[in-house]
Amino acid sequence: MSVAIYNFSAGPAMLPAPVLEKAREEMLSLRGIGMSVMEISHRSGDFEAVLASARDGLRNALDLPDNYDVLFLQGGATMQFSMVPMNLLQGRSADYITTGAWGKKALAEAAKFGSVNEIFSSADSGFRNVPTQDELRFSHNAAYVHYTSNETIDGVEFPYDLDAGGIPIVCDASSNILSRPFDMEKYALIYAGAQKNIGPSGVTVVIIRKDLLENIPNGLPTLLDYRSYADAYSMPNTPNTWGIYLVGLVCEWLAEQGGTNAMAARNKAKAKLLYDTIDSSDGFYRCHAEPYARSVMNVTFRLPSEELENDFCDEAERAGLSGLRGHRSVGGIRASIYNAMPIEGVEALVGFMADFAAKR
Ligand SMILES: Cc1ncc(COP(=O)(O)O)c(C=O)c1O
Repeated sequence: MSVAIYNFSAGPAMLPAPVLEKAREEMLSLRGIGMSVMEISHRSGDFEAVLASARDGLRNALDLPDNYDVLFLQGGATMQFSMVPMNLLQGRSADYITTGAWGKKALAEAAKFGSVNEIFSSADSGFRNVPTQDELRFSHNAAYVHYTSNETIDGVEFPYDLDAGGIPIVCDASSNILSRPFDMEKYALIYAGAQKNIGPSGVTVVIIRKDLLENIPNGLPTLLDYRSYADAYSMPNTPNTWGIYLVGLVCEWLAEQGGTNAMAARNKAKAKLLYDTIDSSDGFYRCHAEPYARSVMNVTFRLPSEELENDFCDEAERAGLSGLRGHRSVGGIRASIYNAMPIEGVEALVGFMADFAAKR
């Protein structure tokens, strides 16, 4: 399948072409059973195999230790902003690190359920940086620490896995999970909306250390209690069967590509091409993020004027480079270059950027 357009959208984002081809092949008859995955019972053996393949695919990709569960939910990463405090706050307080728009939302949501300490915020400097490990001071009695490993809108990413000295770490990794190896044992809970690196929208992945399930308060609404998913094989009700099927296909593709180590090398090379183009443009293109925190997944930059930014997006669209307009809340340009974006797409973009700058 040839790709007519390179899609730089932040999510839902590009899916790997071989995944879409496989899904097309199996659209009418999943693995020869004569029915589509969307038509079979989620309680059937055929679907159980689909779910197992997605779950085991993620386990392998993440090199996940046995004491963690992989759960498939709905409600997006946004629902996790509420579920995390509902399940884990347990009458205590939690530390929040705010390095962008999503972390800010997570904090505001958690504050509805109890006491939260914002122990770091880069809001005043426009969300351009992330703290070093040494800059952070955690509250000794925190129930958990929450941070966003990659801020999709602002284009800032933690270049390290956080260490909170034994306090459970909860991480929104929606936009950089599977982009590189994560040191999973450092995390108590990682959540991610699937629509960037894992699959289509409508599936939310929660990876939870099993001991966390033991202290969840009773009385939560069934679908907002992690135990409901852990106890029922992610199916306390009808799951997003099609979405979970695609997650399995993405994991197969990822394994064929060499897993997260291979992805990390490819992703770094793609990001370097873009950042080098920005840095060598004599100030025509300006990065939003400070060098320490530059995201490997979402490259955010500005041009000399909004008018030029509009021209840039319009011309890029005509050149088959789609989805480059920055988030409406911050403006500018954002190139999202998740796992499925081939290096050829980034080469096409940097070629376009050089031409565009030269013409001006
Ligand atoms: C880092 C991050 N967190 C949370 C969200 C919200 O995700 P959802 O739309 O799945 O609720 C997004 C969406 O782009 C995101 O990038």
